[in-house]
Amino acid sequence: MPHELEQLRDAALADVAAAGDEQALEAARVRYLGRAGSISAWAERMKSLSKEQKPVVGKLLNQARTSVTAAITERVERLRIEKESAALASIDISLPGRVTEPGSLHPLTQMLDRAIGIFRRMGFALAEGPDVESEWHCFDALNTAPDHPARNEQDTFYLPDGRLLRTHTSTVQIRTMEKSPPPIRVIAPGAAYRRDEVDATHSAQFHQIEGLYVDKKVSVGDLKGTLEFFLQELFGAETQIRFRPHYFPFTEPSFEIDVKSNALKGGEKWLEMCGCGMVHPAVYEQVNRARGDNAYDPEKWSGFAFGLGMDRLAMILFDIPDIRYFAANDLRFLKQFA
Ligand code: DAH
Repeated sequence: MPHELEQLRDAALADVAAAGDEQALEAARVRYLGRAGSISAWAERMKSLSKEQKPVVGKLLNQARTSVTAAITERVERLRIEKESAALASIDISLPGRVTEPGSLHPLTQMLDRAIGIFRRMGFALAEGPDVESEWHCFDALNTAPDHPARNEQDTFYLPDGRLLRTHTSTVQIRTMEKSPPPIRVIAPGAAYRRDEVDATHSAQFHQIEGLYVDKKVSVGDLKGTLEFFLQELFGAETQIRFRPHYFPFTEPSFEIDVKSNALKGGEKWLEMCGCGMVHPAVYEQVNRARGDNAYDPEKWSGFAFGLGMDRLAMILFDIPDIRYFAANDLRFLKQFA
């Protein structure tokens, strides 16, 4: 005849095994192992047992507690697994997954990242200014005569309030000098807008990288060295560079730069790449007037500026035949640069 503790243990194990949820399990635990539980009651009863019986019953009590506790732990785990697999039962794991295709950077962004990297190595910081500009920042401050054709409504997008969409990023030269005294060494990449007839090389919105370097004793030699280094880093060491005299109202002297490289498609031709020159003293004077000081004293400071056509650089670098592809959002085009 088994001891009563053994009978209790077997009853407890049967109840635990039959418990269908956590509440039933907890009720069984309280019934047998709780403070007033029937197995726990034997701990109390031990006191009145004889010396011979105590170790026998003590052993049975320990065994009962250990095996019931273990059974409860196991049952808890079992119930949890059952619950989880019931929740997952409605999910069809044989359905094919949804593929997320990795994206890639736009070719203009890739080309810009490279350009920024090269200028950064030469100590140029990034600057920016607004796309919607005042006529003063776009023309007057840049020494552009009131009757200059670029101001024409046929060439420039004007807003009803007299502001305009900047026709070049040279506005950021002025914005930067208004804010900070010299020395200045910045590039300003961004959009520019013109009312051009749209074709393979013209778009109403295009992109430029403006550059401005103002310091003591900056010379045309610094300008040539900086742009030559940039263009050879971008297009290859064998790239040839040519400076042609030109006219811009905000620089004197002014140049246009052409490049020629066998690494490029149409490598036998000179390709126009950039406008540049030494910042005109009249620009410093306009900036000083706006600042209300003489921080850009043309007797003390000199500098160079340049404007690179960003779309044009990317078109040459990646052999892209039409500027309109940049904005067409056609995946067949964009995937080629992934
Ligand atoms: N802003 C000129 C353009 O859009 C390009 C340019 C020429 C920028 C000479 C300059 C510069 O900074 O010095 O055609």
